Amino acid sequence: MAHLFNRNVLLGVSGGIAAYKSAELVRQLQERGARVRVVMTRGAQEFITPLTLQALSGQPVHTELLDAEAEMGMGHIELARWADLLLLAPATADLLARLVVGRADDLLTTVALATPAPVLIAPAMNQQMWQDPATTANVQTLVERGYHMVGPAAGEQACGDVGPGRMEEPAVIAAAAGALFESGLLAGKRVVITAGPTREALDPVRYLSNNSSGKMGYALARAAAEAGAVTTLVSGPVDLEHPAHVTVVDVESAQDMLDACLAHTAGCDIFIACAAVADYRPKAMADDKIKKDADTLSIELVKNPDILATVAAADNPPFTVGFAAETSNVLDYARGKLERKGLDMIIANDVSNRDIGFNSDQNAVTILTPRGELPLAQAGKDTIARQIIEHIAAALESTA
Ligand code: PMT
Repeated sequence: MAHLFNRNVLLGVSGGIAAYKSAELVRQLQERGARVRVVMTRGAQEFITPLTLQALSGQPVHTELLDAEAEMGMGHIELARWADLLLLAPATADLLARLVVGRADDLLTTVALATPAPVLIAPAMNQQMWQDPATTANVQTLVERGYHMVGPAAGEQACGDVGPGRMEEPAVIAAAAGALFESGLLAGKRVVITAGPTREALDPVRYLSNNSSGKMGYALARAAAEAGAVTTLVSGPVDLEHPAHVTVVDVESAQDMLDACLAHTAGCDIFIACAAVADYRPKAMADDKIKKDADTLSIELVKNPDILATVAAADNPPFTVGFAAETSNVLDYARGKLERKGLDMIIANDVSNRDIGFNSDQNAVTILTPRGELPLAQAGKDTIARQIIEHIAAALESTA
């Protein structure tokens, strides 16, 4: 089933008898995992009440362009930006004509102009209107501009005519919406990813840490969410924007990261440990700022728990992927970690090269599994992340 996990679908309902099917369409979209908001034209409200669609979508229904109160909540530009997909169902002949000329005389046409999201149209009208050359030309123009179309179906119409023009069934429309996003590689999977450094406090103002920027882990979280996974990112302190459609759990120390991972990995499908976790922490944190009275200072360190090994050793562990940041004998050390920690896959990262690895935008890695190894050439971290996610999905598929 084509999924819509993590997708924001803005459903635009215009004024035709098929508007009553929008209620079922909201349900179908939600069943596929979408978050749904609804915009209605004035005509649509003659056929179905906003209250019905509000109750089903669980969100206020948007009807007015010039409504100060609505604009203070989610205004038309925010709505247009919020949408991953604008779905126009039913789309009347009048709506199609207004889209062709770029009208912005109500909320729905304004959002359609303002959204960068793909638009999927489910036309619904009398068969004569559908076959009129004006409608044919409008549809052709919209398709040429990149709008997607589902239906219409043919058959008996509400007006008694028989022919093409009936809105497609909600299940067919929801499937067409899902198909637009189908990489679907990790559809329905739950993924937990660690990213960034940890900080191990020495005293109230100082800590031990490292140079991880979080970029690689955040790129993996974006790629997992894009592939349809329900994604949780357990992040050490970094200076990066939270990725869209990803639940971010902020942590500081290795112990915090372990606690968060144990809380979120139970029952998850995939765990990817990309964080640069401090291997040691000060045995005790000083209550007050350490004074610089002595010429030398010794700090006793104790080993931190190994988060990756702990998750891999759990009952019913997820498909577990580690990273190995190495400066020499990269593949040998990485394979050692793969075996010692009982992992399904490890990503070997040569961090002696400053152009890749820590705190750079590029990376080059080798994927190792118990069965073999595969180098990924230097590329942006988003590209590397998508490739890693593709390989994890393929490995999962082959073990299913
Ligand atoms: O964040 P960026 O600036 O984008 O840089 C990306 C990166 C270089 C940090 C990343 O690509 C990477 O290599 N991450 C792993 C860093 C690391 O700590 O590697 P390691 O070889 O020391 O650890 C092996 C594995 O065990 C890692 O998956 C690590 O997350 C995990 N680990 C280590 C120690 C510990 N106490 N708990 C762990 O879970």
